[in-house]
Amino acid sequence: MDERIVTNHELKEDTFEGTIRPDSIDEYIGQSEVKDNLNIFMKAALMRDESLDHVLLYGPPGLGKTTLAYIIANEMGSNIKTTSGPAIEKSGDLAAILSTLEPGDVLFIDEIHRIPRFIEEILYSAMEDFTLDIIVGSDASSRNIRIDLPKFTLVGATTRAGDLTGPLRDRFGIVSKLNFYTEDELKQIVLRTSRVLNTSITESAALELARRSRGTPRIANRLFKRVRDYALVMSDGNIDLDITKMALERLKVDEFGLDATDYNLLNAIIEKFNGGPVGIDALASSIGEEASTIEDVYEPYLLQNGFLKRTNRGRIVTEKAYEHLKKTTN
Ligand SMILES: Nc1ncnc2c1ncn2[C@@H]1O[C@H](COP(=O)(O)OP(=O)(O)O)[C@@H](O)[C@H]1O
Ligand SMILES: [Mg+2]
Repeated sequence: MDERIVTNHELKEDTFEGTIRPDSIDEYIGQSEVKDNLNIFMKAALMRDESLDHVLLYGPPGLGKTTLAYIIANEMGSNIKTTSGPAIEKSGDLAAILSTLEPGDVLFIDEIHRIPRFIEEILYSAMEDFTLDIIVGSDASSRNIRIDLPKFTLVGATTRAGDLTGPLRDRFGIVSKLNFYTEDELKQIVLRTSRVLNTSITESAALELARRSRGTPRIANRLFKRVRDYALVMSDGNIDLDITKMALERLKVDEFGLDATDYNLLNAIIEKFNGGPVGIDALASSIGEEASTIEDVYEPYLLQNGFLKRTNRGRIVTEKAYEHLKKTTN
């Protein structure tokens, strides 16, 4: 579906992510508030020799939720077992993984908002009382049995905290929101990746990559990897500002990290709706997209960065966008 090079969703080419993930909290760049809090709670749990409270991590794709889940397990000296909301289709799927847990384990459930509602209830007692209630047998011979679970830590990740039911959200002792990264933080991430992958990059090139990465480490790493290829084939393998700019121009990622899809959306509002305000449905049909795709995928970065504004009469293109488009489309 979404194959833009600046998408924050995971692409096939991102499989290298596992190899460049920081695995300690000290190596995890930025998100200082989240880190500081987690550090205290983890230390306290270790001092008391208890398992860490359940943790909910939420925020847009590519900001480091999965990475943090692994870091938590590492820092706690625990094993991690992973699954995801969409992988849990029957209550048996969840019961199966819960019953393999050992004391202190971290259970990571990605996209936790996608667990079917009727299964969610199994999680309530598992999280709260560390018990697993299951029904065995069928019809007349069926009965409830209760299994005690060891103390474990559930780490849930979601891009849509609002889609979580109240009862589930309330069972997390630690709820942390990940935010978009600053240019400087992304630069640090790019520099770190270059060290891990043994590629030299200049400071100015790292900053340029950071600027075009839409606040998102996943995009920064992906662009880094592409630029590295250009540097290897077209230069001496070292990444400098020139090769970075040239590569990003070829990849059609502009100096704000905007790509053709962003231009399409902004230009549609400018040309067809006089810059807005335009309702989301009218906009969607004018560019042949689903309204929900615009809201979830196309808009957030444009809103966040002041290219687009949402008013109660619809979307409007900002002065900043007009200036930027004039400069780059003519
Ligand atoms: N704070 C960070 N410091 C360094 N690298 C990070 C950080 N956050 C994310 N990354 C990198 O960005 C990529 C995407 O992170 P990931 O944890 O998979 O995001 P999410 O699970 O939120 O979609 C990974 O390669 C990871 O190494
Ligand atoms: Mg993830």
